[in-house]
Amino acid sequence: MKLNIAILPGDGIGPEVTAQAVKVLKAIAMEFNHIFTFTTGLVGSAAIDKTENPLPQETIDLCKKADAVLFGAIGDPKYDNNPDAKIRPEQGLLGIRKELGLYTNIRPVIAYEDILNKSSLKIKQIKDTNILIYRELTGGIYFGERFLSEDGNTASDVCEYNRLEIERITHLAFKAAQSRKNKLTLVDKANVLESSKLWRRVVQEIALQYPNVKVNYMYIDNAAMELIINPRQFDVILTENMFGDILSEEASVIVGSIGLLASASTGDKHAMFEPIHGAFTKAANKGIANPIASILSAAMLLDHFGLDEEANRIREGVDKSLKLHITTPDLNTKYDNISTTKVGDFIEDFINNPDETNLN
Ligand code: IPM
Repeated sequence: MKLNIAILPGDGIGPEVTAQAVKVLKAIAMEFNHIFTFTTGLVGSAAIDKTENPLPQETIDLCKKADAVLFGAIGDPKYDNNPDAKIRPEQGLLGIRKELGLYTNIRPVIAYEDILNKSSLKIKQIKDTNILIYRELTGGIYFGERFLSEDGNTASDVCEYNRLEIERITHLAFKAAQSRKNKLTLVDKANVLESSKLWRRVVQEIALQYPNVKVNYMYIDNAAMELIINPRQFDVILTENMFGDILSEEASVIVGSIGLLASASTGDKHAMFEPIHGAFTKAANKGIANPIASILSAAMLLDHFGLDEEANRIREGVDKSLKLHITTPDLNTKYDNISTTKVGDFIEDFINNPDETNLN
């Protein structure tokens, strides 16, 4: 297969982890006779520094022409304590999601058997957790009308959803549940918010078309607690934009490191794949950033094109690296010198030689 992949490394650890994912994709292309071409674009703080724009038109064009986008990370502490900054790196990420119409964000949360002890939660509590979070990505409070009064003393952000925005991701989430444990939990705040009531009504209607899927409804405050005390009860979680952002980051506690959580963002025409972690600027260029979330995002990219064997090869490589403790310091206790590149090299070698790869 020929795939033209746009690479947006972004900020902080983004370039380092993305480089490992590209290396792994190149190994897959060699091993399975595909032709993958990579073109890099500017986004985020890196783009602001060069062009004063977090999402230059050139980057949008590059992504629209590509078959898929691999995104690194975004953010820079220099903007964090400046609420008055008109231009922010995050606008690059939100802008590209909107431009490409990426309304469905899929975030798998898997408690890996070999590193259960890396979670701060009890092993018996998290063992066998396997959740797929369906987060709506182009609506809600992230994209609603914003207001700041002239005197600067009143502000608001509107959380708006329409039926179509809810329907399209809901169907996808139900279909995903059908290919898993046939269970879907809608997370909302329908005891308070009008937008959540609409989600609940629409999901209740659509549920009738998927009679074999058991549907649960849970308020976000309760879901935040249930996710920690009994994560195994969840199969597919469907939720709106901001709740999904918060719940998926919380879910990284189950897995042991946010450096393991990958995601796919899809729409009707385009698809982008990105780790759920941020730029973690403090860790940049130290060789300590965990590349696995980016590498697993590359696996999700391959899934998207039906390259199942290839995607599974990557996942097996990741599993083996975890089993052998070939992990960066966020997870590591056995070795203290495994760098970002070393993890990438190991998974690259595994792709070429699945049966023989060991730490060397
Ligand atoms: C994420 C991130 C982004 C979001 C930020 C960087 C805008 O937290 O992808 O989860 O809030 O969606």
